[in-house]
Amino acid sequence: MVTTQQTKEICEIIRLKSTQVFLVAGTCLITVMVTLLCIGFMTRYEVENDVANVADVDYWKDKVATSQKIWYDKGIDELNEALRPQDLTYPKNVRIFVIQGIDGRDWAAFRFPTSDASRGNTNFIWDRFPHLARLKNSCSQQFPCQVASVSRALWLGIPLDKVPDNQQDCGRLFNATQGPISILRQAQLAGLRTGFVTTQRITGPTGAALGNANGNFECDESMPLNSIKSGCQDIAQQLISDETGKFLNVLIGGGRQMLSSLVPNTKYDPVDEMLCESNDGRNLLKDWRNQKLKESKINRIIFDLIQRRDELESLNSSSFDYLMGVMANGDLSGNSKAPSLKLMVDKSLNVLTKYKQGYLLIVEQFIPSGIDKREQLQLLNDTLVNLHKDQDTLTLVLMTNAIYPKPSLDVSEETETISLLPEIFNEAESEIQKRLHQMPSESLLFAQGPKSSIFQGVRKETFLAHAISHVLSRSRVRP
Ligand SMILES: *[C@@H]1O[C@H](CO)[C@@H](O)[C@H](O)[C@H]1NC(C)=O
Ligand SMILES: *[C@@H]1O[C@H](CO)[C@@H](O)[C@H](O)[C@H]1NC(C)=O
Ligand SMILES: *[C@@H]1O[C@H](CO)[C@@H](O)[C@H](O)[C@H]1NC(C)=O
Repeated sequence: MVTTQQTKEICEIIRLKSTQVFLVAGTCLITVMVTLLCIGFMTRYEVENDVANVADVDYWKDKVATSQKIWYDKGIDELNEALRPQDLTYPKNVRIFVIQGIDGRDWAAFRFPTSDASRGNTNFIWDRFPHLARLKNSCSQQFPCQVASVSRALWLGIPLDKVPDNQQDCGRLFNATQGPISILRQAQLAGLRTGFVTTQRITGPTGAALGNANGNFECDESMPLNSIKSGCQDIAQQLISDETGKFLNVLIGGGRQMLSSLVPNTKYDPVDEMLCESNDGRNLLKDWRNQKLKESKINRIIFDLIQRRDELESLNSSSFDYLMGVMANGDLSGNSKAPSLKLMVDKSLNVLTKYKQGYLLIVEQFIPSGIDKREQLQLLNDTLVNLHKDQDTLTLVLMTNAIYPKPSLDVSEETETISLLPEIFNEAESEIQKRLHQMPSESLLFAQGPKSSIFQGVRKETFLAHAISHVLSRSRVRP
């Protein structure tokens, strides 16, 4: 009786009502639960991200000689990389660097610096990418084959022998039901920002494939009259007036002489006589600007068309929605004042990241024969080293040797070896051997970033488009 009385008194003194007790207890319980959850998450996070140290990675330490052991211990870093658990996230952005004109042999040789032998083997940045796939080149089975078809196989994701050969009858094709579309167009339709940057002319095979342009005529010059009558358009025209081109946030490269009939012919940027030259009086650059002006009356868009390096340098590109850069009459290699790859890539990324809605950027570095390949790889290395480290971005580097010596109807430098083809079977054994060495080799695809692990093994060339379509469809971005 006494105790009950005392309890009652105590309760009255501290005025604890039952609701208050409940509140206090509830708070304590929630705190405990949150703490436990946090600990759980931390532990899981650490298990997933933990990079084992030297002690964790075991090997037959007591079985190898001391002279061997130092090398085995040094190998632990690479082992750790290989043992790292696969990451579960998908990238928000993808940037693909396509290097045309380099194969595995070149790239292995150029790792060694010429001047300073004591520096030994200097690795390129892509040597440190965790994943690598080999893309088969189906052109090897049909050699020689057309570069335009190879580009379409790669970017449309359909096998080389199934790429529609639509040179003749493009008028009918235009009106056909939905044709195949490039990975770039797929990204646009999914609400991503898109960009294409090339050191070649924008109307080259890669530009044509990405822009879903039909036919192989880069400009009006060489187009037969009946093609025009049947409703065909050249690639330059299609890039400016078709949907893919219109939606491209960034388009930078060469090709002024295809886009405009009246171009300045200077010593540092001569008109390239080997390439198509427009002569129908067009100015597609002006057309592009007018198109964007018209759009800007409806949507508030910021855009610019630039044609010189200094214009690009001073551009505050992060505020732009659309950027078109035509930096040479022909390919950029023909213009001694053309901007560097690094400058073009940096400015493009500024435009593409404006709204954080995810992007697909494709950068083509075209290395024509006769150009210092070592220097080009160095430029690529510098460009990649300085890229913003972004956890949301998958970076791919694709190296192809770009030998497809079958002429397209248009004149272009990919065709330079074609005149020799008829003689190919009358040559000395050594010459034939040399030629076989020049066959299109398999491409190497280096991958870094979320889901880079899906790039492994020997794959068909169409795998690239399929894989990009998959990873971007699973990105967290929703239009
Ligand atoms: C590429 O860049 C990395 C990082 O800066 C550097 O260590 C390496 O030496 C470069 N490779 C070459 C071949 O220049
Ligand atoms: C294709 O369609 C356009 C309009 O949609 C038409 O003007 C043109 O004549 C058609 N071309 C052919 C070859 O049918
Ligand atoms: C560049 O543009 C951004 C976004 O519009 C703006 O915030 C920034 O101040 C500009 N920078 C310069 C140097 O004008």
